[in-house]
Amino acid sequence: MAIADKIRQNMAQGSMIRKMFEEGAALMNRYGAENVFDLSLGNPVVEPPPELQQELKRLADEPLPGMHRYMSNAGYPDTRSAVAKQLVAETGLKFTMGEIVMTCGAAAGLNVALKTILNPGDEVIIFAPYFVEYGGYVDNHGGVAKVLPTDENFLPRLNVLKSSITAKTKAVLINSPNNPTGVIYSADLLRQLGDILQQKEKQYGTQIYLISDEAYRKIIYDGLKFPYPLLHHKQTVVVTSHSKDLALPGERIGYIAIHPDCAGKGELVDGLIYANRVLGFVNAPALMQHLVKNLQSVSVSIAEYQQKRDFMYQNLTAMGYKLNKPQGAFYMFPRTPIEDDAAFVRELQEHRILTVPGRGFGAPGYFRLVYCVNDRVLEDSLTGFRKVAEKFGMG
Ligand SMILES: Cc1ncc(COP(=O)(O)O)c(C=O)c1O
Repeated sequence: MAIADKIRQNMAQGSMIRKMFEEGAALMNRYGAENVFDLSLGNPVVEPPPELQQELKRLADEPLPGMHRYMSNAGYPDTRSAVAKQLVAETGLKFTMGEIVMTCGAAAGLNVALKTILNPGDEVIIFAPYFVEYGGYVDNHGGVAKVLPTDENFLPRLNVLKSSITAKTKAVLINSPNNPTGVIYSADLLRQLGDILQQKEKQYGTQIYLISDEAYRKIIYDGLKFPYPLLHHKQTVVVTSHSKDLALPGERIGYIAIHPDCAGKGELVDGLIYANRVLGFVNAPALMQHLVKNLQSVSVSIAEYQQKRDFMYQNLTAMGYKLNKPQGAFYMFPRTPIEDDAAFVRELQEHRILTVPGRGFGAPGYFRLVYCVNDRVLEDSLTGFRKVAEKFGMG
């Protein structure tokens, strides 16, 4: 018994994406990388924007004294101020550096936030389909994930939400633009959601946080504007990163932002800083904090991702795949023509296309593909998608 039973169990249940990644590596060894169409992992193929190289060069040429030392665990004041300034410009709310904690990406930010707020047995509501790691993150900190279904457009069913909130509900965790569906929550939906949280806070005399995972906030298509959850609930904790908008997932840089009018804000922020430290992150990477300070209004080319979305959406729908057109992020979540989504994913694998079964996201009967890959991979995957569509009479 070398490892904990719970970790062994969780690994077996929750590792579908990694499993596909490993099977993909095996297929690539066998057939050559160019003959495998890996649409399984959201690892953006685009390079960071040129401004990042310029900042990197500037820092290498003119290093700041002490720039590699320990710092305040919340992060550098000038980076936190730059983030706050950008949030003021985007939301109109009065953010200052005091509401910002720099983190090792959104994954760390979510863990820091959950560790800070959860007592053992507290409930966190999440909506299926959800980002695969949410269950593990909630469990890490003694919470209980309460998974609620969404409607046919992958939007929360508000009546179900209303009847599911209890005195134990500490947070509702949302993700818009969404991984895996690409859906964006409208301002109207967020307003209603906020109203429900406020009603329930009154009813139970509790504080219910809205944790808003905004990892894809800047990756939005068709000129849509991002509806900010922050504007609809004061107990909002934003968690985001530059993994996707600056294409820096390997660098682990992100932040938590607390609504400036959040009740108990001072203690909450102190708690976040403490949790960041004792979870062992200590602080977000120094070099990355220096880099992203001047890149708050910069992002990778959204037009490039939109083209890829359009290409896949047009082709897949023409073949008979049933899916909602993603409004943001870089994932698609089509229905599988058979009930067994894992079996369908294996069919695609026969054509060297790697995707992930919907059950990994709490939504069997669907599969997820990513389109943040080279155009050639997308183009060459179409033959396999077509053959599978024909086999299942989808057209
Ligand atoms: C919805 C969502 N949240 C959080 C993360 C974690 O991102 P990060 O690389 O910033 O830790 C991801 C990564 O894919 C994601 O899709």
